[in-house]
Amino acid sequence: MRYLLFVLSTLGLLAVPWVLCPSQPTLAHPVSLADPQIKPLDVNMHDFMEGMFQAPYRRLKVSMAKEPADNALWKQLRSDTLILAEGCNLLLTRLPEKDGEDWVAHSTASRDAGAEVYSAAKQKDFAKSRGAYEKMLTHCNACHKQFENGKHILEP
Ligand code: HEC
Repeated sequence: MRYLLFVLSTLGLLAVPWVLCPSQPTLAHPVSLADPQIKPLDVNMHDFMEGMFQAPYRRLKVSMAKEPADNALWKQLRSDTLILAEGCNLLLTRLPEKDGEDWVAHSTASRDAGAEVYSAAKQKDFAKSRGAYEKMLTHCNACHKQFENGKHILEP
């Protein structure tokens, strides 16, 4: 019995570093590892960006050109911001084979700036929304610079 306890506790101790530093790289598929229910659709990066980001970006650019005149226009602005910001979370399920850390950094920075746009827009503060929007695009473009050789540099 004592021997059994000894073996079990040794195994337990051996498991500690394994639990603390799982050998699977957490960066490879951070979201799908955390929750296997999340299953990105089988589309390539080009179709993903075109399908998820292009339309809301184009609408948002129009919304951001001048202060929204009514509630419906503010709602449209918030909606497109939310789509883009949450879209950045989905980028975390689509890491490139190389430089994944940089991909994550650009995605989370774009998302966080998007969250700032959203909360400023919720307060109907146009100057603040516009400032955060420009910041968001700087982060979007930083990724395009690094991973797209500077193609698709977006104008605010
Ligand atoms: C982590 C990297 C990354 C981030 C962050 C990112 N993008 Fe992209 N984006 C790409 C890549 C890669 C492409 C090129 C896809 C292709 O054509 O192969 C692209 C292409 C695009 C295109 C061109 C789509 C087309 O084919 O016409 C638009 C528009 C776009 N992104 C908008 C955005 C916006 C807006 C943001 C920020 C809210 C953003 N992207 C953030 C990686 C990123």
